[in-house]
Amino acid sequence: LRGRSLSVTSLSGLPQWEVEELPVEDLLLFEVAWEVTNKVGGIYTVIQTKARTTADEWGDNYFLIGPYFEQNMKTQVEKCEPANDAVRRAVDIMNKHGCQVHFGRWLIEGSPYVVLFDIGFSAWNLDRWKGDLWEACSVGIPYHDREANDMLIFGSLTAWFLKEVTDHADGKHVITQFHEWQAGTGLILSRARKLPIATIFTTHATLLGRYLCAANIDFYNHLDEFDIDKEAGERQIYHRYCMERASVHCAHVFTTVSEITAIEAEHMLKRKPDVVTPNGLNVKKFSAMHEFQNLHAMYKARIQEFVRGHFYGHLDFDLEKTLFFFIAGRYEFSNKGADIFLESLSRLNFLLRMHKSDVTVVVFFIMPAKTNNFNVETLKGQAVRKQLWDIAHSVKEKFGKKLYDALLRGEIPDMNNILDRDDLTIMKRAIFSTQRQSLPPVTTHNMMDDSTDPILSTIRRIGLFNSRTDRVKVILHPEFLSSTSPLLPMDYEEFVRGCHLGVFPSYYEPWGYTPAECTVMGIPSVTTNLSGFGCFMQEHVADPTAYGIYIVDRRFRSPDDSCNQLTKFLYGFCKQSRRQRIIQRNRTERLSDLLDWRYLGRYYQHARHLTLSRAFPDKFHAESTSPPTTEGFKYPRPSSVPPSPTGSQVSSPQSSDVEDEDEDERYNEEEEAERDRLNIKSPFSLGHVPHGKKKLHGEYKN
Ligand code: UDP
Ligand code: G6P
Ligand code: GLC
Repeated sequence: LRGRSLSVTSLSGLPQWEVEELPVEDLLLFEVAWEVTNKVGGIYTVIQTKARTTADEWGDNYFLIGPYFEQNMKTQVEKCEPANDAVRRAVDIMNKHGCQVHFGRWLIEGSPYVVLFDIGFSAWNLDRWKGDLWEACSVGIPYHDREANDMLIFGSLTAWFLKEVTDHADGKHVITQFHEWQAGTGLILSRARKLPIATIFTTHATLLGRYLCAANIDFYNHLDEFDIDKEAGERQIYHRYCMERASVHCAHVFTTVSEITAIEAEHMLKRKPDVVTPNGLNVKKFSAMHEFQNLHAMYKARIQEFVRGHFYGHLDFDLEKTLFFFIAGRYEFSNKGADIFLESLSRLNFLLRMHKSDVTVVVFFIMPAKTNNFNVETLKGQAVRKQLWDIAHSVKEKFGKKLYDALLRGEIPDMNNILDRDDLTIMKRAIFSTQRQSLPPVTTHNMMDDSTDPILSTIRRIGLFNSRTDRVKVILHPEFLSSTSPLLPMDYEEFVRGCHLGVFPSYYEPWGYTPAECTVMGIPSVTTNLSGFGCFMQEHVADPTAYGIYIVDRRFRSPDDSCNQLTKFLYGFCKQSRRQRIIQRNRTERLSDLLDWRYLGRYYQHARHLTLSRAFPDKFHAESTSPPTTEGFKYPRPSSVPPSPTGSQVSSPQSSDVEDEDEDERYNEEEEAERDRLNIKSPFSLGHVPHGKKKLHGEYKN
């Protein structure tokens, strides 16, 4: 079997690439992850956004394997019968032998097939399967680690399923890609049983990296000095770390999501990744260029409504001059950089007050924590806002009717009498009801660990209590957003679109989807040179700041210096005019092609070629495994930005005193965008390769 050559044209401005097409009709592809149909964090985003391009290539020979949860199945999966004989047999046999295996189509773009295992239903096998794992690799799992035990059940079911499939695969070769240590035992057991499958293990982080960074250890400067077995033991994750490391070493091909995690993996897992597969997104393009700007305005209005309620009685700031910043993700306080963000906000508050700025910043922290539902004060805020709106509306109706009657009589009404005493009383009472004894709350929920919560504790320490004089206001929303929330009924995407700046100053972030998602929605964001995404942008964009990607240096600076740099970015952002923000958003959105799976998917394709050539060398040949190259490719600095030596600080769009844009300006921006768009191609087509750039981001070179 040989791959067939297929040349693919480039996405606008990006270099062309060639893909060796696999004979997918003679292959089966399985991808295994704990986050298939099960949202926890970014791995879900990888699988879910990639489904469309993978399904386009693989059609009905593509399957995702994950855990079964009743609620997820009910809301996301449509049950159906497997069309593939080997898969149908495998599902039937396992169900006959006391398992519960569900099969269906995941209702997302690409609608891939999913095979979901009910973990609890098969838990009675646990002891036997612990024995199997021990025999395979001498790793034991303590009974009290529920999560690791669940992963073993998941892995054992996966390996069993793959055995049944390969026994009846009818000559088809099987590729299986396992994501993260949670899926790893499936790989270890499959290899121990010598199943004829080509395997890929993809890690999205290392366990030790995450733990060591969370402990505030100077991780990146001591990568080669850790006694990793000892560290894992001391943190009581030795068995998990063994599961992870065994998976890495069992795989034909080992991949990870960024160069920085590739280096980390080499030290923490003792294997260099064969391929780096940067994470993409399923980018949707609007037919009208300014559609995403309109969406920003629309969703911003929804956030403004919420803010009106939350700050009732304290709305002495101008919402038209209020900027919305946010941080979002799993609640890893220092890994996600919430610590330096809060510190910078305190400094920003000081700067804005000192310079008597009329800008107010409302900052949202969207990080799930344990709560006892919304707090009363927050709900009351929205109720008060609604009441004021209703009163304004009914008075307006009465006013309008009287005005209309007067005009019909040919009179201009007496404005002093157009509202009667009752109207005035109702309005006065409404204003009285907006008085409050306390400051607008810094959190929307009753926190279970209120006194020890790291965000709240820091807010208390730095004194950002939403007082009138604060120019920076904070709101912790310790739950992921949802359009069915009674408080802030918006889904995450809508919320991001409505904000002005996403701030993700992570210390530990193998990729970091949140700033990438901002980028494709045309919302500027802050990231760091310790995040996979930040490094990727630094490599592929000549002046990231000009495009609204602010990269904080957390690698070569002290935390205090990083904090100062972040403060500078935030303060600089606050000083931009509306027009500058609009231009910057246009530029940000222009980077989205770079993050499209249609472009980045080829690293996954390359990994699949490679694993086939290693697992079945007599059938698939190494010459079809040359890595994709983008060496030297960079988005140039936007044409309207002067090539200033001071770089990032001045590269926000050119200053203007005009606060409100008009249509003409809008078209100028479109022209500017078009000019830049055309320019993007030139450095590449002229064969321009910046000096000193040798490493490919797709291939970790030995
Ligand atoms: N996210 C979400 N709802 C929210 C906040 C975040 O769905 O209210 C998602 C976000 O879209 C992103 C993921 O959570 O895709 C976080 O992924 P990331 O790679 O940034 O971090 P991870 O949690 O994997 O470390
Ligand atoms: C978009 C809309 C404009 C609006 C602007 C507000 O560009 O199309 O109509 O004026 O957003 O921008 P701002 O940065 O102030 O939220
Ligand atoms: C992990 C990492 C995150 C990455 C995600 C998807 O959860 O923490 O940085 O974006 O996986 O690869």
